[in-house]
Amino acid sequence: MTYHIAVVAGDGIGPEITQSAQQMLEQVGRTYGHSFVFDQVLAGGAALDALGMPLPEDSLKRCKQADSVLLGAVGGPKWDALPGHLRPERALLAIRKELGLFANLRPAKLYPELKEASPLRADIADAGFDMVIVRELTGGMYFGPSGRKDSPDGQQAYDTEIYSVKEIERIARVAFELAQGRGKRLCSIDKANVLESSRLWRETVHGLASEYPDVMLSDMLVDNAAMQLVGNPAQFDVIVTSNLFGDILSDEASKLTGSIGLLPSASLGEDKRGMYEPIHGSAPDIAGKGLANPIATILSVAMMLRLSFGLKQEADAVEGAVQRVLESGARTADIALGGPSVSCAQMTDLVLAELG
Ligand code: IPM
Ligand code: MG
Repeated sequence: MTYHIAVVAGDGIGPEITQSAQQMLEQVGRTYGHSFVFDQVLAGGAALDALGMPLPEDSLKRCKQADSVLLGAVGGPKWDALPGHLRPERALLAIRKELGLFANLRPAKLYPELKEASPLRADIADAGFDMVIVRELTGGMYFGPSGRKDSPDGQQAYDTEIYSVKEIERIARVAFELAQGRGKRLCSIDKANVLESSRLWRETVHGLASEYPDVMLSDMLVDNAAMQLVGNPAQFDVIVTSNLFGDILSDEASKLTGSIGLLPSASLGEDKRGMYEPIHGSAPDIAGKGLANPIATILSVAMMLRLSFGLKQEADAVEGAVQRVLESGARTADIALGGPSVSCAQMTDLVLAELG
């Protein structure tokens, strides 16, 4: 089979980590007899510099035409002063929205080998955790009406959290089905003690529960969830939550695994195509220094193989290779705890060697 992949390398460490991911796919292709064709697409700060806009029409078109999108990261201090509609992040939000990628899957698990790198207390880390955060990705505060207006107290700015039953139901179904295939526990996270949008969220999720009798559904307020994540992460199996809460909680969960450089993600819509990206950002402070951890992006490739292309064996092979390299003791700087570390390219080579 031939798979066409749009590669949005983006900014900062984006080009380094997407390079690692493409090498991984090429290796998978050689071993298992597939061909991956890459289309390099300009977006984010890179597109702003070249063409004066974060997501040129042609870039969006090529993402839409591809079998899947691989994205590194967008953004950086260079473009921070630009107005909202011209920021590099706008490209990412527009691709998500335009491709209808409403379901963002962010798995976070603690590798026993990385317990020391986790900020969790030893007894909590010993209990381990393995969860998937299902983040709604095309609605909520990120896409509600926003703006500025004058007031007697000076300028006012507003962003609006809006969710419809349809949006909540479709993301909840993704989460229920995922839970069915895992530990059969689903925790819906909201702020229903204050927000009307959260009350509709909660009602709607509960309205579906009878269709998934094998899944144990619970609710948690987001402030408590932030606390429970560090106090007892083992309790979570699948979490479903809004765009904004999912953004925040997934960064928190990633830190518990040892480093934000470890967490992959898949963004999915109604069909099999998706966008795959690490959950971390462009890390401009370490860009070009070979210090980036490629694992989050390599694991995103595994998710692409599994979820978009149905290549289970290949996905298992990539994940197994990462696991064995971590077992062997190789560490990039972010998880080396000040000890000896390997570069982004060296880590990539180690995983490639295991995969071969
Ligand atoms: C993420 C990132 C993005 C988001 C930014 C870069 C717009 O933080 O994917 O978690 O907020 O969704
Ligand atoms: Mg984020």
